Formats: sequence, C-alpha cells, structure tokens
Amino acid sequence: MSTPEAVNIQRDKALGSYNTLALQGRAQAFVTVGNERELLAALAQARSLGLPVIPLGEGSNIVLAGDVEALVLRQQCRGIEVLKTAGDAVTLRVAAGENWHDFVRWTLRQGYYGLENLALIPGTVGAAPIQNIGAYGVELRARVLRVHARYLADDRAVTLSNEDCAFAYRDSVFKGALRDQLVITAVDFTLSLQAEVTTSYPALASYFEACPSRAVTPQDVFDAVVQIRRSRLPDPAVVPNAGSFFKNPVIAGETAAALRDSYPGLPCFSQSDGRVKVAAAWMIEHCGWKGFRRDGVGVHEQHALVLINYGGDNGALLLDLAAEIASSVRDAFGVSLEIEPRVYGDRR
Ligand code: FAD
Ligand code: EPU
Repeated sequence: MSTPEAVNIQRDKALGSYNTLALQGRAQAFVTVGNERELLAALAQARSLGLPVIPLGEGSNIVLAGDVEALVLRQQCRGIEVLKTAGDAVTLRVAAGENWHDFVRWTLRQGYYGLENLALIPGTVGAAPIQNIGAYGVELRARVLRVHARYLADDRAVTLSNEDCAFAYRDSVFKGALRDQLVITAVDFTLSLQAEVTTSYPALASYFEACPSRAVTPQDVFDAVVQIRRSRLPDPAVVPNAGSFFKNPVIAGETAAALRDSYPGLPCFSQSDGRVKVAAAWMIEHCGWKGFRRDGVGVHEQHALVLINYGGDNGALLLDLAAEIASSVRDAFGVSLEIEPRVYGDRR
C-alpha cells in the first residue's frame, strides 16, 4: 500500500486547461492518479487535509463558476480487459481514466459492437455513467453491465449493477442518491460480436438514405456519427464549450401536444412512459439566441444548445447568459430548461 506522500498534491492549481470551456477557476488542491495505489493515497491525503474530493475526467461536462475548495482528483487509471466471451457477447472491464472515443474505436477494431453511435463523445470512461451519456439513438445504459467505484469517505469498494445505477435520460444514481460520494474506478460493458446497427435517429436515418443501399455496418455508423458530429458541434480544442448546455426537457404528452398545435415545427420524441422529449435547441433558436454573443460568451452559430466561451474567463457570465436563455424559453413556451453540465465553485 502507498503512503499518502506517494502522490503529488499540488496547491492552488489553475484549472483552465482541465475543462473544455477553458474557464479559469483554481482548485485548492489537485492531484492526478494513474493507478489504484495512487487513488487510495490521494483519498487518504484529502481526509488528512480535511478537503472534500471532486473526481475529474477530461472536464468536458463541468462549468467552473469560480474557485473550488476541494481536492480535484483527476482519474487517469488505464487498462482494458476482456473478462468473458460467451455466445454472441463479450464482457469488458475498462478503467475509468481511458478516453471514451479511443475506447469506442478500439472496440470496433476488435469486432465488438454496440458503442458506435456514441463515437466522438469527449471525456473518460469513468464519467460516462454519471449522466448516462447518449447520442444518435443509443444510451450508455444499454451496454453497461456493472460500475465499480470506491467511497470517497472511507475507500470502501462497491460494485453497482446496471439496475443499481438507476440510469435515465442524462441521469443516474451518481447524480442522485450517491451524488458526490463515489469515485468510479472501472466500468464493465457487455457488447455484441454480431454486427447489428441502430440507425433510426433522424440525422443518421437521413444520412444513410442518401447512401447506396448496401447493408450498413457498425463502422459505417461510427463514420457517419463522427461526420455528423463534426459538422454540427464545435471542437472544444478550438472553440471552448461543454456540448449541450441544457438537457432536452421531458414533458407531459398533453403539454407537448398543445405546444405542437402552436408550434408545428417543434421536434418532439415520444418516450416509453408516454411523456415527450422536446428539442431545447429549437426553442432557444426560436427565441433568437443562436449566434448571440456578449462579454466573451455566447451561443454557437450552428447549434443553439451549445454555449461558448469566446475568451472570457468567467463562468459566472456564462451562467448569467444561461439563466437569461432559460427565462426567455420559459416565457415563450412555458417550459423549464435544466443545465446539463455540473457547476462547481463559488461565483466570483
Ligand atoms: P468531467 O467533465 O471531468 O466530469 C463530469 C462529472 O462527472 C463531474 O461531476 C465529475 O465529478 C464526474 N466524474 C468524472 N469522472 C468521474 C469518476 N471517475 N468518478 C466519479 N465521478 C466522476 N454527452 C453526452 O451524453 N452525449 C453527447 O453527445 C455529448 N457530446 C458532447 C460534445 C462536446 C463537444 C462536449 C464538450 C461534451 C459533450 N457531452 C456529451 C458531455 C460530456 O462529453 C460527457 O458528459 C462526458 O461523459 C464527460 O466526461 P469527462 O471525463 O470530461 O467528465
Ligand atoms: N435544432 C434546432 N436548432 C439548432 C440545433 C438543433 O432547431 O440550433 C433541432 C434539430 O433540427 C433537431 C433537434 O433540434 O430537430 C435536435 O437536434 P440534434 O439532433 O442536434 O440533437 P440535440 O437534441 O440538440 C442531443 C444531445 C446531444 C447528442 C445529440 C445527438 C441532449 C441535451 N443533447 O442534442 O448530446 O449528441 O442529441 O443524439 O440530449 C451533450 O449532451 O453534450 C450532447 C451534445
């Protein structure tokens, strides 16, 4: 077992290069861990310093409103293991610090299918269960078998089944009952050895309609998703952003029907429980925000759901803009928008 001195805890660390919005908060303490021993040493050190711990992946779904009074623990543990191959299925264990997109690309090279719709989502494997990442007709919950984690308070190891994770749209137990209690160490996935594809999401369906009629392969889906995403979403390395800034609201069926009467163009997606998910981007665009820019922050010109940091360093300005956008959508449509990324730090 490592001693607490085995990890390099940095004090008063600038976080600008550790979040994709490039916001300039500082962490009271910061550490990068690359294996289990370093993780345990860092947790022990946080306890002896009396600091709460905030696990961090690649910072692609956080907003720094100011400085963070915590030990920010960057999860960089690596490794992919094949646990079992049985029939048409393979079970994998993937360490939390693996890059998500690299992992998806790796699965395709091995002939393991089921994650291709989730290509090019930024971030780490360990963060993926937090909001049950989803895109182009597939959510993580369809492929997760188990999640392995440790309690921040006492290092205790815990394994959660898929059901324990209480996955829902952009939600899980890690944002609910277990919020701020765990650091995820690894995720087990069950993938298919059979090449089945999901192409029903409107943007994917129209992409393949325009293609010759040969059978669509998982690699085709991967390539299509990468191409569609690149055409719509800004690259955070060039234009700092955190992807969708708001969740798509899920509202009662009758409310959605009434809205559709007034706004026939509003994109609506029926859910299995009878509720309806409505496109926040469409409503924000309808309120005139697309391409809006003020005080170094703004709304992306190609996608109204993506807020941009154009060079200001102040997360509070971004949150002020988000509040104004949400308020105008509420006034126009009677629908509340909820911020998707996690906000940290006290407003400066
Ligand atoms: P971080 O931003 O570092 O952390 C996010 C949250 O998870 C924080 O609360 C953090 O404390 C917690 N966390 C991180 N790692 C751990 C861990 N090991 N244990 C416990 N808690 C942890 N999301 C989608 O669902 N679908 C999309 O299509 C999508 N597209 C995006 C496009 C762009 C351009 C960007 C910038 C973001 C997009 N996102 C999307 C959001 C983001 O990619 C995901 O939420 C991703 O899972 C975040 O990973 P991360 O490692 O960057 O997490
Ligand atoms: N639309 C507009 N205006 C815009 C952008 C989009 O009217 O400026 C319309 C589109 O025409 C479409 C609808 O809104 O009819 C939905 O757009 P899109 O397919 O781009 O998806 P989204 O609902 O905006 C969600 C996720 C994305 C994910 C895509 C693809 C949420 C909050 N966002 O976006 O996830 O990549 O679907 O599945 O659910 C993220 O979470 O960070 C993220 C990028």
